[in-house]
Amino acid sequence: MQADRILNMNSDITILGIESSCDDTSAAVIRNGVLLSNVIASQKVHEEYGGVVPELASRAHQQNIVPVIDTALKRAGVSKDRLSAIAFTRGPGLLGSLLVGTSFAKGLALSLHIPLVDVNHLQGHVLAHFVEDGTGRDKPTFPFLCLLVSGGNSQIVLVRAYNDMQIIGQTIDDAAGEAFDKCAKVMGLPYPGGPWIDRLAKEGNPEAFHFAKPQIKGYDYSFSGLKTSFLYTLRDMLNEQGLQTVDELAERVPHLREDLCASLQRTVVDILMKKLRQAAKDLKIDTVAVAGGVSANSALREAFIDYGKRYHAAVFIPPFSFTTDNAAMIAQAGYFKYLDGQYCPLSEVPFAKTKIS
Ligand code: KG4
Repeated sequence: MQADRILNMNSDITILGIESSCDDTSAAVIRNGVLLSNVIASQKVHEEYGGVVPELASRAHQQNIVPVIDTALKRAGVSKDRLSAIAFTRGPGLLGSLLVGTSFAKGLALSLHIPLVDVNHLQGHVLAHFVEDGTGRDKPTFPFLCLLVSGGNSQIVLVRAYNDMQIIGQTIDDAAGEAFDKCAKVMGLPYPGGPWIDRLAKEGNPEAFHFAKPQIKGYDYSFSGLKTSFLYTLRDMLNEQGLQTVDELAERVPHLREDLCASLQRTVVDILMKKLRQAAKDLKIDTVAVAGGVSANSALREAFIDYGKRYHAAVFIPPFSFTTDNAAMIAQAGYFKYLDGQYCPLSEVPFAKTKIS
């Protein structure tokens, strides 16, 4: 009823998206399905701790959220009273971080008398492929499989429609990004380690080391064994040489970090692609996409391109700007739910754990 009233007053559909699930505060505006602005404030405060500190993340969101939303509206040239709905990330993520975006979204929707639309962060990553950013890129057709790989998730999602998705496989322990970040930490690389591994791997030999690969049934993943295998490889090398630190070892062994990175990256990509291929074969699906922060990885992108050629599949890789957490994908997902009339009551609360619907 409320939405009908808004639609009658203003035929444009303008959605403000708010993302605050981890360590990026982001706001975006989409009008009639076209992206007008996407502002991201990344939190540098976590770098010195080698990982995201939840308490610091929620405090930084509180500082960032007003200026980020204000900038997103200004860049879009949209005033608050032209908004049709507020879409926000409800989960999964860090609860303290989610609470900041959720509370702000509720307050704003309430004060403007417009609907609130809750968005699953993972669904947002998948729907990033449909953001109309003016580049005119092709969009996946339904059904497709999306490999969703980030710091907190590694999943294969069967996407039947914008608002109809099902997780058919997921990690039973660590996520792929987490494995990259933890192995990078062991090598003394800064956080987040994924981009560093990608960079160093370009100079290394992917066959230099052979790490354990998981033997998990179905389409599920596991990366904790790989992480342990990586750790033991380094520990054994240190013991053999009678050394204490990776820096000392790197002085003795030429291209040590480069070779470790290239071998680790190759193993992670092999594990991810093998299950995706199996799922696509079993379900007879010839359209595959990748999403999430790890989809920025150059070896994974190459593996997707190679997959497309080898299996005559349509392959979709998102632009770099939509691989990491951003509100454009939340506004986009919110837009689709808004069109379906799927609004969220003010009584809904954020959720920390993975679920998709
Ligand atoms: O999706 P995202 O921004 O955050 C969430 O986890 O929600 O993903 C962050 C993850 C981190 O683990 C980071 O190391 C990884 O994505 N990452 C990469 C690359 N760029 C970011 N991993 C491998 N290669 C990259 N180029």
